[in-house]
Amino acid sequence: MSFQLPLLEQSLDQIQARQDEFAAQFYATLFAKHPEIKPYFAKVDMAKQQQMLISALILIVRSLEKPQLLSGTIKSLAERHRRYGAMTEQFPYIGEALFSTFAEFLGADWTTEMQQSWRSAYDVISEKMINGLQQVAV
Ligand code: HEM
Repeated sequence: MSFQLPLLEQSLDQIQARQDEFAAQFYATLFAKHPEIKPYFAKVDMAKQQQMLISALILIVRSLEKPQLLSGTIKSLAERHRRYGAMTEQFPYIGEALFSTFAEFLGADWTTEMQQSWRSAYDVISEKMINGLQQVAV
């Protein structure tokens, strides 16, 4: 399965006007399903948290647009996530909260192709981050 960059870009454009609301919904979904993740973000205020989600989404799309940036960016992102205490098994939880928030915000525009693109893009980035986490963990 592969992703279509224009669809990822389109989805970001579609949520642009409602970024804060989107981020609030994402964290609400994530924490409702996985309350054990909430303490990880305890020191971060909501405004910063919302900005982080949007940066993460933009980072995913930008790094897939410019694959030469991918390994360096992901390596340092993984190093920071080791410090945050992120664990391999938590990656799918973040992905599911992201996809369900997109589904809610985009409605009929959250097409099968767009879903597949996001799933596949998220898989690529998570796999690299998980590899990076494991490498720096030793
Ligand atoms: C592919 C998946 C993920 C991506 C692309 C991603 C991306 C990001 C980005 C861009 C930031 C902003 C700060 C920085 O750049 O270091 C961030 C912060 C954070 N991420 Fe992730 N993340 C992912 C998965 C996770 C997972 C699975 C956890 C598990 C708990 C997590 C926990 C955190 C925390 C706690 C912060 C905020 C740290 C702080 O400022 O105190 N992330 N993430």
